[in-house]
Amino acid sequence: MKGIVLAGGSGTRLYPTTLAVSKQLMPVYDKPTVYYPISVLMLSGITDILIISSPDDLPQFQRLLGDGSSLGVNFTYAVQERPNGLAESLIIGAPHIGDDSVALVLGDNLFHGPGLSPLLQRNARDVDGCVLFGYRVSDPERYGVGEVDDQGRLVSIEEKPAVPRSNQAVTGLYFYSNDVVDIAKNIRPSARGELEITDVNLRYLEQGRARLVELRRGFTWLDTGTPQALLTASQFVGILESRQRVRIACLEEIALRMGYIDADACHRLGERLGTSDYGRYVMEVARAWRPSTTATPQLAGA
Ligand code: G1P
Repeated sequence: MKGIVLAGGSGTRLYPTTLAVSKQLMPVYDKPTVYYPISVLMLSGITDILIISSPDDLPQFQRLLGDGSSLGVNFTYAVQERPNGLAESLIIGAPHIGDDSVALVLGDNLFHGPGLSPLLQRNARDVDGCVLFGYRVSDPERYGVGEVDDQGRLVSIEEKPAVPRSNQAVTGLYFYSNDVVDIAKNIRPSARGELEITDVNLRYLEQGRARLVELRRGFTWLDTGTPQALLTASQFVGILESRQRVRIACLEEIALRMGYIDADACHRLGERLGTSDYGRYVMEVARAWRPSTTATPQLAGA
């Protein structure tokens, strides 16, 4: 399975902060926002990751992340000329997807919870159609909303409905089979002129090939679209990290635990960041690492 992180959009709800810097490069506590969705793909077992952003912002992502080789993964980059909607990322990403299935994650979404990595890996296998991840929220009208029947079958999906049929938000993580490229190429722009991801998902729903996996109590899903949401996410990560001295979405730790790099390589990455607490943590993790340790990388959060 290939991965795509869409880090586009103009972040207007964070103006003036995002006038000069991409929303997905803003810090959530101790690391750039984009680390969180990247960690989700890595925890899913995905190592080929395309980062899509605007022409102005893309060079900054390249500077931050490079080609991924130091993490044992492969980062490539593509431009979205204008914020034409989330589904356009699947058209831009078509050459990257090739014959494979694909996971699309939005660059400002943060997921955390026990057993997240095995749950993602299970659902990434043999995708036929689309797999959506649902999360109950108090303000579903801000999101795509999924409605599930008594048997747990997905029966409707609506984009930002004024009167939601459920409180189950469709989060910004989507697993698709290869035919998603054709579907994305054939949808029409919505009233707001965008290729909506919800319209792609509706095609699969019509074909009876859409599943919704609920992330239940104990999971956390946050986005960072507004100043308050950004602060909330930072506080959440700050509290967990300082209380337990673990780190959420520490890419170096995840690369180590997933077997993408060895402890020496991980330690070297920590040295480069050594004057920060994050860097010291990476070195500690590398020193404590026993290759026989079978702990799932949920420790690393995401
Ligand atoms: C997008 C999707 C929406 C989804 C949300 C998750 O909305 O259109 O269905 O629930 O991401 O973050 P946007 O944030 O672009 O308004």
